Amino acid sequence: MTLSIREIDEAIKEAPIGVFDSGVGGLTVAREIMRQMPNERIIYFGDTARVPYGSKSQNTIIRYSRQIIRFLRTKKVKAIVVACNTASAYALDTIETELDIPIIGVVKPGAKVAVDATNNGKIGVIGTEGTINSGIYSEFIHKRKKDITVVGKACPLFVPLVEENWIKDSVTDEVAKRYLSELKESGIDTLILGCTHYPLLRSTVRKMIGEDVTLVNPAYETALELKALLEEHDMINTSNQINDSSRYEFYVSDAADKFKQFANSILPYDIETTKLINIEDF
Ligand code: DGL
Repeated sequence: MTLSIREIDEAIKEAPIGVFDSGVGGLTVAREIMRQMPNERIIYFGDTARVPYGSKSQNTIIRYSRQIIRFLRTKKVKAIVVACNTASAYALDTIETELDIPIIGVVKPGAKVAVDATNNGKIGVIGTEGTINSGIYSEFIHKRKKDITVVGKACPLFVPLVEENWIKDSVTDEVAKRYLSELKESGIDTLILGCTHYPLLRSTVRKMIGEDVTLVNPAYETALELKALLEEHDMINTSNQINDSSRYEFYVSDAADKFKQFANSILPYDIETTKLINIEDF
C-alpha cells in the first residue's frame, strides 16, 4: 500500500513522543507534557535497572542514551525529550548530531527561566554530581546573561530517596538540611531543581531553603519548548484522541510494579501496565 504525502504527514503528527530518564524523575516532565499537550501520545522509558545516572561517567551516559534512543525509535517516535538533566548535560550534544528527528533536553529551558526569575543575580543549582560537575547550567545561564553568580550543589542522595518514595520522611528532611544549608547562606534568590527527580521533593526543599527563594522546575518550560519545536516542524497531533491513559506507554528496565505504583501516585491518569524490557539488547 502506498501512502499519499498527506497520509504520511498525518501519520507523523500522530506518532508518539519519546521521553526518557534513569527512573521515575522524568515523569515530572511527562506529566507536564500531558497537561500542556493533551493530544500527544507518549512512550516513556525509565532505566530503573541502571539508576542512578548522576554518579556515572560521561561515556557510560552516552552509551545508555544511545541504547534508549534505539529502543524508542523502534516505537516510531517523532521527537525525543531527554527528561534527565544528567543525560542532557553529558549526552545531548553527541546524540543530537546522530538523529534525524527533533530532540530536546531539560537544562536549557531551566536556565532560561532562572535568568528571568532572579532579581539579585544569584542563582543556585542543585543536581546530580554529573550535572553539577559538568558546569552546564553555568554555561547556559552565562550565555543568556554574563553577570550572574551561580552556586552549584550536588545532592546525590536525593535520587535514591525519591526512587524509594521516601518523599515525606524525616530522613529526607535531614539530608535536605545538610545539602541546602550552605546554599541558604549564600544569598541566592532563585534555585533550579536541576534533576528531574527533585520536583518530587519540592515541599522538603521549600521548607529548608525558605519562602523567599524562587524554585525553578524546568519541566514546565521544557514542555513549552517541546510544543514550539513540534509546531516549527508541523508535527503537533491535531487528531482528537480518547482522553485516557491509552495514549501513554511505559517501559522500564527493572522493577516494573514499583514503577507503576509510583507513576500512579503522581500522574493525572492511572496507568494500566508497565512493560519490562532488556535495554542491553538495543
Ligand atoms: N533524574 C535524572 C536527572 O535529572 C537522573 C538522576 C540520577 O539517575 O542520578 O539528572
